[in-house]
Amino acid sequence: MLEPYFADDTVQLYLGDCRDVLPLLDIAPVACVADPPYGETANEWDTWPNGWVDAVSTVLPQSASLWCFGSARMFLDQRDDFRSWKFAQEALWVKRNGTGPTSRDRLVKLHEWAYHWYRGRWSDLHHEWERERVDANKGTVRKLARAAEHQRDGRQNAWTDDGTRQPRSVTYLIEAPSVRFQKRHPDEKPLAVVEALVRECTPEGGLVLDPFAGSGSTLLAARLLGRRAVGIELNEEYAERAAERLATADLFSEATS
Ligand SMILES: C[S@@+](CC[C@H](N)C(=O)[O-])C[C@H]1O[C@@H](n2cnc3c(N)ncnc32)[C@H](O)[C@@H]1O
Repeated sequence: MLEPYFADDTVQLYLGDCRDVLPLLDIAPVACVADPPYGETANEWDTWPNGWVDAVSTVLPQSASLWCFGSARMFLDQRDDFRSWKFAQEALWVKRNGTGPTSRDRLVKLHEWAYHWYRGRWSDLHHEWERERVDANKGTVRKLARAAEHQRDGRQNAWTDDGTRQPRSVTYLIEAPSVRFQKRHPDEKPLAVVEALVRECTPEGGLVLDPFAGSGSTLLAARLLGRRAVGIELNEEYAERAAERLATADLFSEATS
């Protein structure tokens, strides 16, 4: 049996290539939150790992979600890898500081995508966005315009504003200081972004898989949200940083919500 590089009650991190490690694990995650190398730059580490979607697909039940971070270019280039998955929805998150350009012919890139994929019946997946708390109109009751007789079915003619709203697909985030200053990983995702996805696709206590764990953001998010997580990381330096982060992080040092 493969020994984890790091393990505690809620999280396990394995060192290795996810395509080699996944067949050795006896797991049935509720969801996968993946942040692969996008394969867009000339950097040696930025290579799309061919076959990773298939490797992940073999351990995920039909009712599991696959959330994958990426760019539009990445998803277009790699669309065949997602051929056995159906597109569900996308979330876009916006950074404070963008990347590039080195010349005048491209826009400064300030955003990244996360695409949500599924295979089985939508109704079998766990998918639930936590409603956002807003201050406006709390406690007021609004009446909708009168519906015509044929439109009445299933309509409410009034609703109570409980001060919450369904989250929207664009998340304006300010990166937490820990992301900007601690330099654990060049592609570390803000914890709040990862938390939103983990919360959406897993129930309390559910197991989430991150095949590209990096600095351990998904694993930590899962733990902070009362979920369990299995991560895999190829690079030992990053695995070590993730293990350190998981060993020392607590609700006060990293919690964002
Ligand atoms: C975009 S980064 C993930 C960053 C992570 N979400 C975070 O917040 O720190 C992708 C990671 O995947 C790792 N990686 C690349 N190929 C891999 C493979 N075949 N199996 C496992 N990990 C891999 C890289 O070393 C890198 O740390």
